[in-house]
Amino acid sequence: MPFMDALSGAAAFPPPIWMMRQAGRYLPEYRETRKQAGSFLDLCYNPDLAVEVTLQPIRRFAFDASILFSDILVVPHALGRDLRFEEGRGPLMTPITTAGIDRIDGAGFHEHLSPVYETVRRLRRELPKHTALIGFCGAPWTVATYMIAGHGTPDQSPGRLFAYRNAEDMGRLVAKLADYSAEYLIRQISAGADVVQIFDSWSGVLDEASFEAFCVRPVARIVNAVRAAHPNVPIIGFPKGAGALYDTFRQKTGVDALGLDWTVPLSQAKRLQGGGVVQGNLDPMRLVAGGSALDDGVDAIMAALGSGPLVFNLGHGITPETPISHVERMIHRVRSRTAQ
Ligand code: CP3
Repeated sequence: MPFMDALSGAAAFPPPIWMMRQAGRYLPEYRETRKQAGSFLDLCYNPDLAVEVTLQPIRRFAFDASILFSDILVVPHALGRDLRFEEGRGPLMTPITTAGIDRIDGAGFHEHLSPVYETVRRLRRELPKHTALIGFCGAPWTVATYMIAGHGTPDQSPGRLFAYRNAEDMGRLVAKLADYSAEYLIRQISAGADVVQIFDSWSGVLDEASFEAFCVRPVARIVNAVRAAHPNVPIIGFPKGAGALYDTFRQKTGVDALGLDWTVPLSQAKRLQGGGVVQGNLDPMRLVAGGSALDDGVDAIMAALGSGPLVFNLGHGITPETPISHVERMIHRVRSRTAQ
């Protein structure tokens, strides 16, 4: 599997490629299946349809890896928090309080998530042998910010404020989320996931001390628990927006590979690659723009990182307005390059 070879540290030409949010609204076949499912959560919890949308981008683009179709917020949902997704508004939850944090007990957690495990089992059977299957969870901080605010915000200030005012409660919440998220990943791996990724989409809003307490520490807790159960399964960490703290993150969490967002300078990316595999980091807006903006972005990444262990990816999820022809152009450009 080219993807797994790259994750074990081998430099490969061309590098393996996949996209965050590769199953999504930019694909007409996704929009069709999504309509059939009813709600977004119905799609996440329906193994037939979740398998179908996971496979759609693989059929169309032959990516080297597929990612389980689900959402990071199924974990708080399985912990008894209410959750719904509203068209155009994203996730909506009842904001959690200190008493709510104490009440989290995990009863029925794995039963609630059993359709997700079933999706993983079926996917590993149906995917081509050379296509890796990525399982995932949200990092505790990112998940906690949605639980506290009850919805998405531009800068997750409700979560940050809660953490400054109630540091102990926040510490308990992220520790609980870390333990359940680790169990969730362990089950995904047992069901057939080849690798797992931890999405910390909001780590970039944390100051240095909070980054240590609420990003690094709980992610390290997940990594340790998953390693103890499945020592040979690679773990990708994606601390989006971590900037100068990417080095600390890798060192202290012990992840096998680092997902880089598009604001990470290629000189820093190259240095990070000296210490292990990197994944990224094309700006999703270059993919929307297409043309020379896309070509130049791909070429710059390949020139800087192409000779080391690299998984080519976007620096964050693909957006719904992205033309499919631009995705094809990006893949062709990455795959048609020759070793230099
Ligand atoms: O990458 C994939 O193809 C796998 C599926 C996946 C989804 N969400 C499907 C999804 C993954 C890995 C996620 C992760 C996720 N979910 C994150 C972390 C990564 C990131 O993008 O930052 C976060 C923060 C969430 C929470 C979430 N889910 C939000 C804020 C939203 C609304 C924003 C939006 O794009 O509408 C979602 C909804 C969501 N999750 C959609 C998809 C395909 C779109 C909803 C739809 O189809 O109606």
